[in-house]
Amino acid sequence: MKLKIYTYLTSLFFCISACNHSKDIVFSESGNEKFRPEYHFTPKTAWMNDPNGMFYLDGEYHLFYQYYPDSTVWGPMHWGHAVSTDLTSWEHLPVALEPDSLGYIFSGSAVVDSKNTSGLGSLDNPPIVAIFTYHDPRGEREGELDFQTQGIAYSLDKGRTWTKYDKNPVLQNPGIKDFRDPKVQLFKDEKGNESWLMSLAVKDHIEFYSSNDLKNWIKLSEFGNKIGAHGGVWECPDLIPLKTESGETKYVLLVSINPGGPQKGSATQYFIGDFKEGVFIPDDTMIRWLDYGPDNYAGVTWSNLPSEQNRTLFIGWMSNWLYANQVPTETWRSAMTIPRELSLFDIDGTYLVKSSPAHEIEEIRKETYFINDNSTELPGVSVEIEATVTGEDSFELSFSNELGEEFKISKEMGLLSVDRSNAGISDFNPDFATIHSAPMSWETEKLQIFLDAHSVEVFINDGELVITSILFPKSPWKSLILSENLKNGKLYLLQK
Ligand code: FRU
Repeated sequence: MKLKIYTYLTSLFFCISACNHSKDIVFSESGNEKFRPEYHFTPKTAWMNDPNGMFYLDGEYHLFYQYYPDSTVWGPMHWGHAVSTDLTSWEHLPVALEPDSLGYIFSGSAVVDSKNTSGLGSLDNPPIVAIFTYHDPRGEREGELDFQTQGIAYSLDKGRTWTKYDKNPVLQNPGIKDFRDPKVQLFKDEKGNESWLMSLAVKDHIEFYSSNDLKNWIKLSEFGNKIGAHGGVWECPDLIPLKTESGETKYVLLVSINPGGPQKGSATQYFIGDFKEGVFIPDDTMIRWLDYGPDNYAGVTWSNLPSEQNRTLFIGWMSNWLYANQVPTETWRSAMTIPRELSLFDIDGTYLVKSSPAHEIEEIRKETYFINDNSTELPGVSVEIEATVTGEDSFELSFSNELGEEFKISKEMGLLSVDRSNAGISDFNPDFATIHSAPMSWETEKLQIFLDAHSVEVFINDGELVITSILFPKSPWKSLILSENLKNGKLYLLQK
């Protein structure tokens, strides 16, 4: 209770000081809602980081997330929970998992155990099993090494309430400080035998574990020591089967890394290869990034999607540990990216992952505007813009407001850049106001940009290259100017 009163007083104090210093920022009726996105997921109040435990069941997409309900900065982690039937409108549900004597509830995943292999439900009412990391703050404080272990919890009522397994943890720590973020999936081997496969981030590599009941786990193999980017700790893995154009199955291993991303701080790299007899074998040692922007981290995919959807659905945390705790929102912190569909494409014989906007976003296009004369006024802060690139493969497009702030997207000499060096509030962190670039050696054909109250997601050629950035303009973007060779400009006003 004391903590709650303290938190309330602190936020009151921050609100008073922040409201005073930014009087001219009017995004909505209520001052403390400024920067609240229209169609990106945000917690109702308080701190959020990684997406966790996403699964689909009976028409509902479940999204859990790292959550600290008592503050707008990171703290003792819970799993917050929301559901959606359309991936754009979310219903907030009560906190799903709270810390207990074994520790905080760090990131993890959830599976529908439809054959009741865990015995935690029945065949008539199969359990949903969440697998997460316990982070014991006492062990950490006292300098122990084994303070992260894996635990499970189950739900018998479509994810509404959760019971922790009474024999947790199910996977002990062998004495390694970073031992976390289990992503579990149902795996079918070459002979058709099914088992549960866990990908776990262990300091500087990924470990794979196998289980028949989600309670007893056997280590299969390790991957990644000295392969890929190693500028920081490895986190939040996901092993995803994706088909090539010729119908061959490749495995894509997502690995988030912090720091050490291409734009400083956090980012998600991936490897492409095969997964055979419990071992991940990469095709090559090339470093590939899922998103070249600074603000897409710890993203993973949904489990249990119906096979007729025939897609791999991903969502990421739209922030960066460099400044996540400092961004200028008041009653809540952080949003998720728009949901994206992952697939493989081929550039000169090399496979890369494409992240395309989930088609559900098209359902919230409310009005369509055609951009004439390569410039337009923006009808709102939540818009989608499309254009095709003609002629020379270089272009520029810029958003601006009446305060002279600007956000620019351009391509020149094979380098795609987004420039937020003069795009609004940035004094909360010296690394924020800068230009982010990505190499793109192949032709740009199509540009698609999703703008919301505090973010811009740029998708090139339907997601062959993606740059996600958050930004905090002091006044909403008013005008858009496109270079001459950007044609067929179209703008959609997005509204749920
Ligand atoms: C990634 C991460 C995870 C961890 C969680 C804690 O952003 O550091 O590795 O489980 O956040 O909130």
